[in-house]
Amino acid sequence: MSGVNEIRSTFLDYFAKQGHEIVPSSPLVPRNDPTLMFTNAGMVQFKNVFTGVEKRPYQRATTAQKCVRAGGKHNDLDNVGYTARHHTFFEMLGNFSFGDYFKPHAIELAWNLVTREFGLSPERLLVTVYADDDDAAALWRKIAGFSDDRIIRIPTSDNFWQMGDTGPCGPCSEIFIDQGPELWGGPPGSPDEDGDRFLEFWNLVFMQYEQIEPGNRVGLPRPSIDTGMGLERMAAILQGVKSNYDTDLFRSLIDAVAHGVGRAPEGASTASYRVIADHLRAASFLVADGVLPSNEGRGYVLRRIMRRAMRHAQLLGARDPMMFRLVPTLVREMGQAYPELVRAESLISETLRLEETRFRRTLERGLSILDAETRDLSEGQNLSGETAFTLYDTYGFPLDLTQDALKSRGIGVDTETFKAAMERQRAAARAAWSGSGEAATETLWYALRERVGATEFLGYEAEEAEAVVAALVTGGAEVAALEAGQEGLLVATQTPFYGESGGQVGDTGLVAGPGLKVRVTATEKKLGDVFVHHVSVEEGRLAVGQAIELKVDHARRGAIRANHSATHLLHEALRQVLGDHVAQKGSLVSPDRLRFDFSHPKPMSEDEVAAVEAIANRVLLQNRPVVTKLMAVDDAIASGARALFGEKYGDEVRVVSMGLGEAEAGERPRTFSVELCGGTHVARTGDIGTVAVLGESAVGAGVRRIEAMTAEGARRHAAEESRRLAQVAALLKVPAADAPERLAALIEDRRRLERELTEARRKLAMGGGGAGEDPVRDVGGVKLMARTVEGVEMRDLKSLADEGKKRLGSGVIAIVGVAPDGKAGLVVGVTEDLTGRFDAVALVRAGSERLGGKGGGGRRDMAQAGGPDGAAAEAALEAIQAAMAGE
Ligand code: ALA
Repeated sequence: MSGVNEIRSTFLDYFAKQGHEIVPSSPLVPRNDPTLMFTNAGMVQFKNVFTGVEKRPYQRATTAQKCVRAGGKHNDLDNVGYTARHHTFFEMLGNFSFGDYFKPHAIELAWNLVTREFGLSPERLLVTVYADDDDAAALWRKIAGFSDDRIIRIPTSDNFWQMGDTGPCGPCSEIFIDQGPELWGGPPGSPDEDGDRFLEFWNLVFMQYEQIEPGNRVGLPRPSIDTGMGLERMAAILQGVKSNYDTDLFRSLIDAVAHGVGRAPEGASTASYRVIADHLRAASFLVADGVLPSNEGRGYVLRRIMRRAMRHAQLLGARDPMMFRLVPTLVREMGQAYPELVRAESLISETLRLEETRFRRTLERGLSILDAETRDLSEGQNLSGETAFTLYDTYGFPLDLTQDALKSRGIGVDTETFKAAMERQRAAARAAWSGSGEAATETLWYALRERVGATEFLGYEAEEAEAVVAALVTGGAEVAALEAGQEGLLVATQTPFYGESGGQVGDTGLVAGPGLKVRVTATEKKLGDVFVHHVSVEEGRLAVGQAIELKVDHARRGAIRANHSATHLLHEALRQVLGDHVAQKGSLVSPDRLRFDFSHPKPMSEDEVAAVEAIANRVLLQNRPVVTKLMAVDDAIASGARALFGEKYGDEVRVVSMGLGEAEAGERPRTFSVELCGGTHVARTGDIGTVAVLGESAVGAGVRRIEAMTAEGARRHAAEESRRLAQVAALLKVPAADAPERLAALIEDRRRLERELTEARRKLAMGGGGAGEDPVRDVGGVKLMARTVEGVEMRDLKSLADEGKKRLGSGVIAIVGVAPDGKAGLVVGVTEDLTGRFDAVALVRAGSERLGGKGGGGRRDMAQAGGPDGAAAEAALEAIQAAMAGE
């Protein structure tokens, strides 16, 4: 029996022996593909190679590709856990030919691997082909010796493979295994094909077309091959088990879940264990590739996956967050094949723990609402889509989670109204998504790169260089020249200008030549290594083939260098102060300031910020040289260099080291910061001048941001701040050092005065002020205390009335409070002994009518009302008196 890890390497080694390059899996977030949410097949990273716009140094490749199908065209989320085969995350093993071999060799290679290397008995196998693909049918007859009844012709899209709505596509042939008559199911194309007996495990796609847009399909320059074998399925077949979840890898994960919840997987709860094991893989790999849970786009799909698993953990009786406890098992099982998992381990754990903690808080309330809303529903009925949306919006319940929770009771959800509500919410995100416009010009840049090659970047050593204009682009097309007054894009044979990347902004500066003056307003990179200068021609004519001189704005570049090096120091200082889960989530290095986003679950304290700043400055003052080495990417990562998750690096990378850390007892001090980085840096750390952290804030769930300044910017900022402090100190008439204490005392004073003022007004209102008319009147032997007060908050009127009742002992009290805007509030209180005779509610109504108000409410002993007309306060009191007298 072969384990999953052995099957994977057997596949890759087999194709390597057959002249295929073993190419690492691409990230789950596709690069250069604005149409696709997640990598969903092995061919995604080769999409442009198939269509011919991108060239690679090999014509045959093989991969084990991580895939997610949980959103978009291929979406398996709802089935996961309830079937033996579905996954959100899975590995696809594939071999690819880019215009090299085609159908005959592809079928031969597949047949030999399956029957010889994997040793499957030919009698158990059968295949499908696209209905009119006679070639494929004839090849299977010849190579496998199949009779026609084992070559099934399928006329539907099942045998025509497409990545998405656009992209390379073609007819395909799928290989099936018959798992024996003890399982229910019929061969492909039969009415019982959905059963488990006949299992498809390998899809060979004969890539022949490109779908440009719906209805527009063109031939590919050279017919190619793309295949995809489900590793999990192959493992189940070779291990002789009937479900992917019974293979060695999933057994380990499910055991870890069982350990976590303290219960063995059995009976109806089996699905929950499977959901958790599957979703753990998807969530962990997505986080490792830079996706974080959020409420839109990819982050939202991740959140749905996580929360679906977390709900199942709760169903299994887990009381505390548990998903993060499974991460070490996953890393042990898969970390060797996917080292990014090892690198991101602490970030994955922290993200899962945080999300589960948050989710648990809302889960209970959401579930009780769901219970209440569905109490009267019976099997076959639907929960309203609006309620499902409220659950989503307010309680973080993704729709599938609501559906899942109701599934066992046979209750559905009105998804149409849910979708309508959701659509409103998502419109904004979608607009941003489709607006990238990248696809249109992609072809131009591929063609251009093919012709002029990568730009040589000289800017690590030089800020000025000579070059030749290689290409000019304006209005989305190439042109031969740009005239004075025109703007466009310039590609040169080489350049000292840094192209925006890795968070560092691009350089600006000048292009000069005889009679020529051109301003460079920005520099970016296309396809990773074509440097594109945004230019505006001020004098002369800029033409392709012309020799030019490129000059970077020196002062600006110097400031950028200092800020970039400071970012590295802060990154390491943050890890030392906050912990290993700190991972870079983004950065911006501009001449004015730097911004660094990192994963951390809560706000930093003032002390933590101060500690980070102190560490960074301590290393800065060592003033040691900044060392840059070129290394193979694997060596660099093995040496402990920090890499950005999900970033694709070339074969060779720059490793930037700076400073010395604290030495452990008896050990040599290690380098303080080591990072993979293509940016430009200072020569010695002292050139940074100083690092000043300006502040710390939240960017999104679990992501914090610090901003900082260095060198001249920091000095100027500090000078301005001191000037401001001096102004404050002058106003307070104390030395600057005493200003905070003085200010605190003033604030305290002010609070005390406010309290005293309120108290004084209240006393005055109660008639304690001495002079003035006695507020107590006699109404037929009953005391009525009637007053109008100003400047007392409406909410204080009631306590005034209470106090009045106490003072009278027996009687009625009526107080009108007039607010500064002229509106009035009215309170009437009746002492307990008189509530049989007088009703405060009736009295307050009599009064509020005069104030232009309607109604009023309360109890027989205390009632209140209001009205717009404060000027009628006295009339209102008269009306109350009259009502008491029964007039
Ligand atoms: N691209 C093909 C698939 O995903 C091989 O099935």
